[in-house]
Amino acid sequence: MIPIVPAAADEAAANAAAVSVQHSAQHYLRPGTLQLKALPPLSLYVHLPWCLKKCPYCDFNSHELASSGPPAENANAAGRALDGGLEQRYIDALMADLEQALPLVWGRRVHSVFIGGGTPSLFAPESIDRLIGGIRARLPLEPGLEITLEANPGTFERERFKAYRGAGVTRLSIGVQSFDDAMLSRIGRVHDAAQARAAVQEASESFDTFNIDLMYALPQQSLHQLAQELDTALAFAPPHLSIYHLTVEPNTVFANRPPVLPDDDLASDMLDLIAERTAAVGLQRYEVSAFARSGHRCQHNLNYWEFGDYLGIGAGAHGKLSFPHRVLRQVRWREPQTYMQHALAGRAVSNEHEVKRRDLPFEFMLNTLRLRDGFDLVRFTERTGLPLSAVHAALLSAQQRGLLDNDEASGRVRPTARGFDFLSDLQSLFLPADLPPADSAKG
Ligand SMILES: C[S@@+](CC[C@H](N)C(=O)[O-])C[C@H]1O[C@@H](n2cnc3c(N)ncnc32)[C@H](O)[C@@H]1O
Ligand code: SF4
Repeated sequence: MIPIVPAAADEAAANAAAVSVQHSAQHYLRPGTLQLKALPPLSLYVHLPWCLKKCPYCDFNSHELASSGPPAENANAAGRALDGGLEQRYIDALMADLEQALPLVWGRRVHSVFIGGGTPSLFAPESIDRLIGGIRARLPLEPGLEITLEANPGTFERERFKAYRGAGVTRLSIGVQSFDDAMLSRIGRVHDAAQARAAVQEASESFDTFNIDLMYALPQQSLHQLAQELDTALAFAPPHLSIYHLTVEPNTVFANRPPVLPDDDLASDMLDLIAERTAAVGLQRYEVSAFARSGHRCQHNLNYWEFGDYLGIGAGAHGKLSFPHRVLRQVRWREPQTYMQHALAGRAVSNEHEVKRRDLPFEFMLNTLRLRDGFDLVRFTERTGLPLSAVHAALLSAQQRGLLDNDEASGRVRPTARGFDFLSDLQSLFLPADLPPADSAKG
């Protein structure tokens, strides 16, 4: 879902050079070969990078909190908290970052906000209130927009979720992963099953809409165990469920010491079970890993998958911004201290580049083909600024292979059931001709 981040070595090299790569808005408004007739909806992603402990499978930009020193006054259930001064300095940096970015999104309304991590629920509700207030003061927000906050079990005390709601959060995403104590310890989580259930219960009492994150194909997991996980999750009647196939990512503890994982056949049976159980309770699979009741799809993630725009602020945050003749990708400094230092000095962006014309079809398909309902052909032209002829041959080839349905009457292009099962093969058909096939994004 979140694009690739630069290697730490690149960041160190750029840091040594200490050159700002950020161009002015005027630079991006100059003429070019792409013709975007309208700009897509704009979302805002805010990255809060700290966690109590780094999980052994995780390759997100998350950094373990120093465990030394006495618990702070606002300590969470696990007995540790962010230092209040650090929290405020980080929000100062986010506000400086946002202000530097404003000329690039001038006059555009924001359709959704996602506060992700790391573990955003380590931040006190008062800090989240300050953050959302600061965003509102600087950007025009669509009335009633979705504001999601990611929360981890075991990082909050009772009533904290209600306080987040009071601060303006409208949707909570709870990172449960598993409701089984043995499994939670096998995957190195800091919370137990009782804390996971308590978090979901509290989210369901405090919010009209919320999400549970689970993973499957976990170390030594059986089909029966997965069935029990689903029973527990579905008993809470979640409006939204995200279920990710565990991926062993390079440079993680699991990559160095691989656990015993279900084989491909078992993983495929697991996905069938997930599809069956979720459908039975009215949760629709609208994206590879996302299931929702009617009216509860995640607006923020939908905007990513529809190749919309997003401004990303915070350590290591990625952004994609469109202009009438180009599409820009940005990355902020990854390491939190480096990020704060640079953002406060007016240089939050560590890397930015214009997406090459030849890469746009694949980038568009990498996102939109993750959706069960695919995309409208007119959107391809609208969001990439390219003529349809740029993908005509690949669309035809995908249809001939039975991977894609192209409904000419409605102009809607959808992956077939087979295309959805072999998504990376389907997406690879849209790679620039001279590049080798790449793996699809994480599910
Ligand atoms: C931004 S992450 C972390 C959210 C939150 N800090 C947590 O751990 O619960 C969002 C979700 O990605 C999923 N995830 C993280 N690493 C993964 C991996 N290696 N394979 C599959 N899913 C993963 C987890 O379900 C996680 O809840
Ligand atoms: S708590 Fe979430 S973000 Fe933090 S290390 Fe674990 S999976 Fe990654």
